[in-house]
Amino acid sequence: MAWVALGVLALVGRSFGTGVPSEECWPSLTDWAELNDAVSGKLIRNHPVAEPCYYGDDGGRRLCERIVDQWSNSTFQSLQPTGYCYPLDYACPIVSIPELEHVQGDCELGPAPVYTINATEPEDVVEGIQFAKQHNLRLVIKNTGHDLLARSQGYGSLQIWLKYFQDDIEYHEAYQSLQCERINWAGSAFTVRGGALWGDLYAEAFKRNLIVVGGQDPTVGVIGGYLQGGGHSPASRDFGLAADQVLELKVVLASGELVTANACENTDLFFALRGGGGGTYGVVVSATLKAHPSSPVVTHSLIVYPLPNRKDPLATTMALVDVVAEILSVYPALSDAGFSGYAGWGVDKIDSPIAGAPAPVMENGGYSHAFAKLDSSNDAMETAQSFVSATLMQRLRAYNGSGLMISESWERYASFGDYFTAATRAQQKVGFSKMAITSRLLDKASLTMDKGRLKEMLRITSTNSPDVPQKATIWTMLFLVGGGKMLSNPTAPITDRYVGAHPAWRQAYLLAIPTSILPEGADDGSLHKMQEDTTYRKTDAMRALAPNTGSYLNDGDRNNPWWQIDFFGDNYPRLRAIKDEYDPDHVFYCPTCVGSEVWTEVPLGGRVYGPLCRV
Ligand SMILES: Cc1cc2nc3c(=O)[nH]c(=O)nc-3n(C[C@H](O)[C@H](O)[C@H](O)COP(=O)(O)OP(=O)(O)OC[C@H]3O[C@@H](n4cnc5c(N)ncnc54)[C@H](O)[C@@H]3O)c2cc1C
Ligand SMILES: *[C@@H]1O[C@H](CO)[C@@H](O)[C@H](O)[C@H]1NC(C)=O
Ligand SMILES: *[C@@H]1O[C@H](CO)[C@@H](O)[C@H](O)[C@H]1NC(C)=O
Ligand SMILES: *[C@@H]1O[C@H](CO)[C@@H](O)[C@H](O)[C@H]1NC(C)=O
Repeated sequence: MAWVALGVLALVGRSFGTGVPSEECWPSLTDWAELNDAVSGKLIRNHPVAEPCYYGDDGGRRLCERIVDQWSNSTFQSLQPTGYCYPLDYACPIVSIPELEHVQGDCELGPAPVYTINATEPEDVVEGIQFAKQHNLRLVIKNTGHDLLARSQGYGSLQIWLKYFQDDIEYHEAYQSLQCERINWAGSAFTVRGGALWGDLYAEAFKRNLIVVGGQDPTVGVIGGYLQGGGHSPASRDFGLAADQVLELKVVLASGELVTANACENTDLFFALRGGGGGTYGVVVSATLKAHPSSPVVTHSLIVYPLPNRKDPLATTMALVDVVAEILSVYPALSDAGFSGYAGWGVDKIDSPIAGAPAPVMENGGYSHAFAKLDSSNDAMETAQSFVSATLMQRLRAYNGSGLMISESWERYASFGDYFTAATRAQQKVGFSKMAITSRLLDKASLTMDKGRLKEMLRITSTNSPDVPQKATIWTMLFLVGGGKMLSNPTAPITDRYVGAHPAWRQAYLLAIPTSILPEGADDGSLHKMQEDTTYRKTDAMRALAPNTGSYLNDGDRNNPWWQIDFFGDNYPRLRAIKDEYDPDHVFYCPTCVGSEVWTEVPLGGRVYGPLCRV
């Protein structure tokens, strides 16, 4: 078990850091039993998800087979108290079935919390916060466990889990606030509570022919890290960030108080919770979000891939970089004309479960996109086709056949809901830890001004430096989710003044996310080199191209040494002041979250996690 005493931990004194299970100050079994009573029996002693694989009996074997089978299923992971999409570390790895008879190695909780409150109502959240404060424990808030930066994990912690928190969705046909007249929104809205998922809210919105600004994967939580981190969407070009849609929030503070945050009350908190990051200022238990009338959609799909029997692979790769630069330089024009959506590219065969590209691109490398335009006019298709032909396709024809295959297709959908359901990617595969990811927001200048520098960035981000020993799959996700409404200066109406998302979103068109993935069996040395390559070489190349923008904290690099400025920009000092006002004791902690610099995580020997200490 993970909380077997480790001598070294005893050195971490109570006044310097949060308690860990091996210490004397760790709550006694009686304390835990009292907490369990206070939350009506909802306290869980955590176990590693793959623990049955280590039982060494038939029962364990049967359970293990199912766990191995479901490991990459984000719904399965989110139903486990210690299940994660992107675990920081596998302290209890799944075991391949043939080896089950004689499993070796350890199975520990590792960076996962030790106890979980399976919260269903605000009182459970309050009990958890108070217990953590009283016993000086590290506290973790988890909704779905989708986080890519390990912000819903925490060694030696108590977890408040919101998966089963009362999650009803309330529809307001014509929203009206009785308490706050500054909320001048008379359109439709939804109030969403607790652990509801985007899939749940999309179902409610689409059956009323409405659009909500949410994630592209239905298994992401609505009101947790996604919304509080800003939230980009297939609809954000047309309606702004998800955080821009928030009319009102209900929040449990570190003090245990349940408060409202909107344009009238707790306006600073309202600002911070709309883009300033999850897990930092309080526990959001409900959010009221704008909904917009739907519209018909036309989509353009493009794929470019190297022909398998190409004679000169190097020339083909160079042609691919040229084509991708050509396409990216047209993104601002496409966005200004109403297009948005998802693209990606990589120079080699793609083994990454993250990619979700069409088969020929997965097999050979290449580029693909599926862009959509909301347009209710009768000649929507003709307008879109002639625009794309003139701005994009004519430039690409010259490359067709030169070792590359280029093809396009068009579709029409009666509503945004039909488009979303048919055209966005299916549930993504998750559950791998040997990954490195970074992101950069790219503005119009960086995409259009200097094609030489753009190509340089593409070359650097699509390969690993030679000192990464093992070959990784590299795929860059290209999210054309900015432009349009995202660029509008959020000064009016007044509700929109309180948005704490990175100001760079207001000039960004594209979010570029290079990801590198190694096989799960890869050694730590390769992983470390690959992560360094991502943190420095790749990120620097993007930063050089777009020096005045930033990164997106929810698709960011967990090792980014400049996370304050890259994730929050000029908002950082204000967000930090709000953090100190609403959570003066820093009860809420997550890595790379605002204020987290007052703590340092001291890694256990050979691990990437360990107890927290005050800096
Ligand atoms: C498959 C997949 C698809 C994605 N697609 C998109 C996308 O389209 N657009 C986009 O912008 N991002 C996307 N993301 C990134 C996503 O925004 C982040 O992973 C986000 O952190 C998920 O939030 P969560 O609450 O579901 O996850 P969790 O891991 O449970 O929580 C993430 C963070 O929020 C905190 N938190 C959770 N709930 C609360 C709460 N109620 N109150 C306060 N803090 C809370 C946690 O402490 C943690 O710090 C995607 C991620 C995945 C895995
Ligand atoms: C993923 O897990 C959920 C919940 O256990 C299950 O309903 C669903 O069928 C699973 N999907 C796959 C592809 O196995
Ligand atoms: C959490 O509580 C819900 C009911 O609110 C229950 O269905 C679920 O099984 C519990 N989860 C665990 C892991 O105990
Ligand atoms: C590229 O060439 C192929 C085969 O010659 C053709 O089928 C395809 O339509 C061309 N693509 C474009 C975008 O013109």
